[in-house]
Amino acid sequence: MADNSTLVLFGARGNLSRIKLIPGLFHLDESGKLSEKMKIVSVGRQNISQNEWENEIKDMLEKKFNKKYDLKVFDRFIKRNIYHSTLPDDPDAFKKFSKLLLNDSRFPKNFAFFLSVRPSDFAKIVDQLAEENLLNEDKYWRRVLIEKPFGTNLKSAINLQASISKHLKETQIYRIDHYLGKSALQNILWTRFSNSIFEHMWNNEHIDHIQITNHETLGVGERTEFYDATGALRDMTQSHLLQMLALTTMEKPKSFSPDDIRVEKIKLLKSIRPIPINKIHKYAFRAQYKSGNIEKEGHVKGYLEELENDKSVVETYAAIKIFLDTPRWKNIPIYLRTAKRLNQSGTFISIKFKNNQDNKKLADNWLVFSIQPKESTYFEIQTKVPGLNKVDLRSTKLEGMNRLEQDDKIDAYETLMLDLIEGNQSRFLHIDEVKAAWSLIDPIIENWTNNKEKIHQYTAGTLDPKESEIIFENQSQFWREGN
Ligand SMILES: NC(=O)c1ccc[n+]([C@@H]2O[C@H](COP(=O)([O-])OP(=O)(O)OC[C@H]3O[C@@H](n4cnc5c(N)ncnc54)[C@H](OP(=O)(O)O)[C@@H]3O)[C@@H](O)[C@H]2O)c1
Repeated sequence: MADNSTLVLFGARGNLSRIKLIPGLFHLDESGKLSEKMKIVSVGRQNISQNEWENEIKDMLEKKFNKKYDLKVFDRFIKRNIYHSTLPDDPDAFKKFSKLLLNDSRFPKNFAFFLSVRPSDFAKIVDQLAEENLLNEDKYWRRVLIEKPFGTNLKSAINLQASISKHLKETQIYRIDHYLGKSALQNILWTRFSNSIFEHMWNNEHIDHIQITNHETLGVGERTEFYDATGALRDMTQSHLLQMLALTTMEKPKSFSPDDIRVEKIKLLKSIRPIPINKIHKYAFRAQYKSGNIEKEGHVKGYLEELENDKSVVETYAAIKIFLDTPRWKNIPIYLRTAKRLNQSGTFISIKFKNNQDNKKLADNWLVFSIQPKESTYFEIQTKVPGLNKVDLRSTKLEGMNRLEQDDKIDAYETLMLDLIEGNQSRFLHIDEVKAAWSLIDPIIENWTNNKEKIHQYTAGTLDPKESEIIFENQSQFWREGN
């Protein structure tokens, strides 16, 4: 059981908190994971009463759990929860807040601050906490969780880091990438390293290439302004896809301690060869969806129509090819692709094995880790069709579900909040990982932003644009469409 602590949730009335954080904390309480004296202080900028806040919590839980939750746990959960407002026009707001936290005996003095606020507010809040001596670890631990994104490019990430590291050591900073809280992602590491069959074939001798995919049928919806300032590469590739890459290709850590796992992930991300910008068209492809038909939704608008601006060259489809400068992966292409409004939604890692046999007509062996919507491990092998004399081969598909009906359904945010209060940083990003990711992505974004020529358009509800295949190393490669 973790130490008694006080979790302070900035942005408690925001969207993320309502949908994920408060229900997640409730579920952790229900599972007996919160220490008896743990308190949750929800900080907002509106002046609402404790009673109103409790009604809001009730509403969030009813929505999330469809009115089915344990009332005894609800009473316990409500007793842990205290609402506190830091009014924007009160210059002493943080002084008062600090007085409450430090002097009121209800609050354990190990503090975890979860900043679920706009990225522009991260540094400001850390400054204010430091000013009130709330980050000092002389007697108790003090941790700060920073939501995604950590910067919007290398420069802003370095600036944010410079600002918060004036007050915090690396061991106090928990930078989130919520994909790392997904059990299916953790499974990649455990499948690789707890099954001895994998290690000897996990290299350039046996693997032809790897594809890491995140496709959605959804469009950008209401978030046009956010999306047009971000794009697919920043939104998905810089964070989630590169983390999947690291877990798939990193070397075995010395131990499975949080520190050792992070050491190997950092090494791997630093080994990515920069994309040669003078040949960018062979390494990176972008496109935008135009109107089309999506199953269950019917006719949908194109990106530029939704945006009401036909000048935008921001990508809703991004595919890149990278190489790793490590002996294990020398000359093996790794493709990362992400898209909105494709024909199917799915996040999966597909590994194609080399066909080293004389008979080149044999179909390929694939291993696929499916992350969502289903969580499975899938293997495609060649087997003999039963029959007399003739040898005919066909592909046999072996699929094992990694999540069974009876398994606990734990949201990624629950895992990460528990890690925060237990002090486990292995599923959070080290600053070196963030820097390595931006170093790869920045030059591509810069090139794409400066190139204002109309970008390729694909019809919503279709497969990957054929033109994206330009990044393949050879003609035998093709996009794998799930399993
Ligand atoms: N929502 C998601 O699914 C999601 C996914 C990934 C990442 N994120 C990240 O998570 C963070 C929160 O996202 P969100 O969608 O919840 O945003 P949101 O709905 O805009 O909520 C942010 C909340 O923070 C409050 N706030 C701002 N400064 C504050 C302060 N000094 N003290 C207390 N509260 C303060 C705001 O209050 P006011 O209303 O008074 O301004 C607002 O309620 C963002 O960094 C976002 O990038 C969200």
